[in-house]
Amino acid sequence: MPLIVRFGVSLDKGLLEKFDKLIQSRGYTNRSEAFRDLIRQELVKKEWQEGKEIAGAVTLIYNHHKRELLNKITDVQHNFQKIIISTQHIHLDHHNCLEIVAIKGNPRESQKLADALKSIKGVKHVTLSMSSTGKGID
Ligand code: NI
Repeated sequence: MPLIVRFGVSLDKGLLEKFDKLIQSRGYTNRSEAFRDLIRQELVKKEWQEGKEIAGAVTLIYNHHKRELLNKITDVQHNFQKIIISTQHIHLDHHNCLEIVAIKGNPRESQKLADALKSIKGVKHVTLSMSSTGKGID
């Protein structure tokens, strides 16, 4: 069990009211948990900026009827096999596919992978969701 430290925070009353409203709307039941999450969010951002290993996912939406599209997507994924953990393919409807690519590695490489997939003609939408490996944010 980590050592728990209590400390006081001085805040403008108006700012605290806004904070309480915000965390209530997001489902927090107490300030401490909301505060912990805010700190972790900043630590994760720092990890990205420093190029530390991240975990996350790239999602892409495309029409599998487009010629050569599947080959191109596969080629790109082979080029980034160092950071790809797994890929899940979901058939959304008759035309559209969703692919979720789980990644772990350098944040810059992750962005490069997302950009490479995005630039393939026929890929309709790509998102990159970067998180943390969880190691440095306890
Ligand atoms: Ni499909």
